[in-house]
Amino acid sequence: MDDKMQNMVVPEHVAIILDGNGRWAQKRGLPRNLGHKEGCVTVEKTVEDAARLGIKYLTVYGFSTENWKRSSDEVGALMQLFRYYMVRLLKVAKKNNVRVKMIGDLERFDRDIVEGIDKLVRETRDNTGLTFVIAVNYGGRDEIVRAVKRIMQDADNGKISSGDMCEKVFSSYLDTADIPDPDLLIRTSGEMRLSNYLLWQLAYTEFYIADCYWPDFNMDELKKAISAYNSRDRRFGGVK
Ligand code: IPE
Ligand code: IPE
Ligand code: MG
Repeated sequence: MDDKMQNMVVPEHVAIILDGNGRWAQKRGLPRNLGHKEGCVTVEKTVEDAARLGIKYLTVYGFSTENWKRSSDEVGALMQLFRYYMVRLLKVAKKNNVRVKMIGDLERFDRDIVEGIDKLVRETRDNTGLTFVIAVNYGGRDEIVRAVKRIMQDADNGKISSGDMCEKVFSSYLDTADIPDPDLLIRTSGEMRLSNYLLWQLAYTEFYIADCYWPDFNMDELKKAISAYNSRDRRFGGVK
């Protein structure tokens, strides 16, 4: 670790909204899909960088419940990239002792993609380094609604009653059960919105907006975000 990072507190959980793949490509006169391809390379590098810095959890937004609105050409290209990168990620995860988890509603994906995801999760589950969480077909509202459905089913079956409900129990029904809330949220390409990401979990997260497009994100940008995080005063509603 370099001198600059030595006195820094490394956030335990960093969440990223990787944005700007399309604009990165368009700026170069390339099709949007090439931006996504380049974005996948950046995801791979960021996993390695995060592991190197000692970050414990890295959660990236790969595909939102709203992204199905894009052209069938773009959605199809993204699905092809998932297929390809699932295999590559397994290698990266094994090499770096990374455990992979998925959040989101996987039911809408083709069977071979779901099988690839299952394999990636199964074969990395005993790794003890960074936990890399990938949000695909993920929407914060959708996650909350799916949690409520499961709670209602458990109530119907007599497993839970209204008196048992509290924030901790509710959290245990979310896709992120067992994952601590993010400490730092990074969004690239200058946009300042949540786009339906981790609505419950980001309640007290520090936000950092990076100006670069996602394919240009790198270790330097990650360190800048961590440095900004270190200058924040996290009060959680209290007084210091
Ligand atoms: C992020 O880049 C990747 C996904 C949402 C899948 P975008 O595709 O949103 O790129 P811009 O925002 O259009 O430039
Ligand atoms: C958020 O980016 C979703 C992902 C990064 C997967 P979008 O590009 O879809 O968000 P909006 O449309 O700008 O809000
Ligand atoms: Mg975008």
